[in-house]
Amino acid sequence: MSGSTILVTGGAGYIGSVTCKALHRAGFRPVAYDNLVYGHEEFVKWGPLEKGDVSDAERLQAVIRKYRPEAVVHFAAYTYVGESSCDPGKYYRNNVHGSLVLLESMVRENVTKIVFSSSCAVYGYPKSLPIREDHPINPSNPYGRTKAVVEAMLRDFDLAHAIKSISLRYFNAAGADPELEVGEDHNPETHLIPITIEVAAGRRPSLTIFGNDYQTDDGTCIRDYVHVIDLADAHVRAIDALLKGAATTSYNLGTGMGHSVKQVIEAVSALTGVPVRYVNAARRPGDPAVLVADATAASRELGWTAKYPRMDEILEHAWDWYNKRFGAATRQGVQ
Ligand code: UFG
Repeated sequence: MSGSTILVTGGAGYIGSVTCKALHRAGFRPVAYDNLVYGHEEFVKWGPLEKGDVSDAERLQAVIRKYRPEAVVHFAAYTYVGESSCDPGKYYRNNVHGSLVLLESMVRENVTKIVFSSSCAVYGYPKSLPIREDHPINPSNPYGRTKAVVEAMLRDFDLAHAIKSISLRYFNAAGADPELEVGEDHNPETHLIPITIEVAAGRRPSLTIFGNDYQTDDGTCIRDYVHVIDLADAHVRAIDALLKGAATTSYNLGTGMGHSVKQVIEAVSALTGVPVRYVNAARRPGDPAVLVADATAASRELGWTAKYPRMDEILEHAWDWYNKRFGAATRQGVQ
């Protein structure tokens, strides 16, 4: 119900901040709870910011008591897949233990609804495509495992404490707020689209393609890129559904369309007028060849479909945001 207060952990991050904007626009009051390790204070514009760590039970409970939220949207997590393999403890501590502290705080304070930021990484190497929610859960890296463990924990907390949850399994989050108020800013940046944009902007000499010998048309990996605005919209719909009594479940969020690494590079070149330089290198460990969502359940039950499914629009917003945040770069032929 609009007017309700929603606690948004990780509300100063990329998807978290865009979701706070969408919640505010839908009439909710988002309270961002963020330790600002990766979040940006200036991304919190649509409600108060409470600095704190999800693992800090006392602080979390004080914030819950102060605002009495109707529901929680839980983004706060580490998301570097490669790092999660080298330092799994960091991921289990923050992503799993942090979620446990949050859930126990919710039980104590009688907050009974939560939308969880999950990932297609829970599926691991797909056995069938497009991937449906009933595809086996078999993550191929610790990051994905932390998300799968939290989803399982959420089901257990429903059985024991009647906490209702919707886990949203994002495919590849991309793009930026079209009004350019918030967008992607990771340090270090590891994701394909922002890195390709950095090359087009002249701030990186070239891009490394991790593997050109996959069983795909052009040999490079295929992913389902979903606009961050569409992800934010799904969170608002999930909150609405929970407030109306929805049961615990999980949904895929993707467009159902795949783009290869080379297609993304070509699309950035076409948009900017700059040929993007790249070098071919070995595969990145743990990368499936193709990840594409079947998101019909989200469409059927949440009424959600991607409003910005087109790669050129996703890239246009990402490019405009990049130039606003990091200074104008020359876009040859487009000026
Ligand atoms: N890639 C390159 N070069 C780069 C960066 C990426 O070739 O410099 C390739 C990757 O190998 C992959 C594709 O581009 O094939 C996309 O890679 P990203 O790193 O942008 O994103 P991922 O597909 O690895 O995303 C994964 C999961 C998400 C998860 C996310 C966490 O699919 O579910 O990591 O950051 F949330």
